[in-house]
Amino acid sequence: ALISLRQLLDHAADNSYGLPAFNVNNMEQVQAIMQAADQVDSPVILQGSAGARSYAGEPFLRHLIAAAIEMYPHIPVCMHQDHGATPGVCFRSIQSGFSSVMMDGSLLADGKTPASYEYNVNTTKQVVDLAHACGVSVEGELGCLGSLETGKAGEEDGHGAEGELDHSMLLTDPDEAADFVTKTQVDALAIAIGTSHGAYKFTSKPSGKVLRIDRVKEIHQRIPNVHLVMHGSSSVPEDWLAIINQYGGDMGQTYGVPVDEIVEGIRNGVRKVNIDTDLRMASTGAIRKHLAEDRKNFDPRKFYKEATKAMQAICAARYEAFGAAGMA
Ligand code: G3H
Ligand code: 13P
Ligand code: NA
Ligand code: ZN
Repeated sequence: ALISLRQLLDHAADNSYGLPAFNVNNMEQVQAIMQAADQVDSPVILQGSAGARSYAGEPFLRHLIAAAIEMYPHIPVCMHQDHGATPGVCFRSIQSGFSSVMMDGSLLADGKTPASYEYNVNTTKQVVDLAHACGVSVEGELGCLGSLETGKAGEEDGHGAEGELDHSMLLTDPDEAADFVTKTQVDALAIAIGTSHGAYKFTSKPSGKVLRIDRVKEIHQRIPNVHLVMHGSSSVPEDWLAIINQYGGDMGQTYGVPVDEIVEGIRNGVRKVNIDTDLRMASTGAIRKHLAEDRKNFDPRKFYKEATKAMQAICAARYEAFGAAGMA
């Protein structure tokens, strides 16, 4: 059944778990996520970006989600729009039947330039006013995602601020978060605590803590009724990176967010954890390996099946780790 993000995350908060929100663009991703959720009995957040809508086409994306809901009627599914760059993008998603939208007013409509606080409040509030009248939830974002080491947003993903960011933007301010929520009435808030989008998050293997969990705790104390969201939360699996490079790929050495740090975030109030890169890497690795090992094959179903299996394993592992298994 289709349910709103507010309903889904209220349940997560009441039962102290977190939900991964996986990005979807095609059928195999949707199937992998649903199969994993069915296997471990977890609720589901499927999220589509504006890029997903232009890749698949609005009717295809809408019907993929409808197919997931029809095939798994016992699983609660939230259909969430990821990173709306303008109110218009959010309104189109509401019209398309999404039960939740993100208005990312932390950046201007170009998706690159950090926006003023006033711009963020105004655009987000516009979306909340209309969305809530339609029973649709809204996620906002405050702060700019980027590495606390380098001050840079993640590379090669196309999402995030360009150039070097002012250090104060890289950590969401708890007082500003409280004011933002009062003014906008968002249901969920994406916060900056040291993550960044894409595969290239950390250049060396994290030895200590990479996230500012103390900041999560402070923000959660100020706005306990707003569900906290962590973007850029792929763990960048070392085994899939190795497989990609072993079978002809050329990814640079890189590290993601350790799963146990995400779990610590969940213990301190994080309820939604955005993951895209991990599934991209698993499917690319599985396809490269299959094609290298079975050079006579030209039936795409065979390699798509391997990709689906690889993504499913990651989804199931995240549902288990985040405490969402058994919660559907
Ligand atoms: O944060 C963005 C997600 O990874 C979606 O990326 O715009 O390429 O679909 P996309
Ligand atoms: P990753 O690039 O870490 O998977 O993050 C995805 C994301 O935040 C989508 O909004
Ligand atoms: Na989002
Ligand atoms: Zn994101």
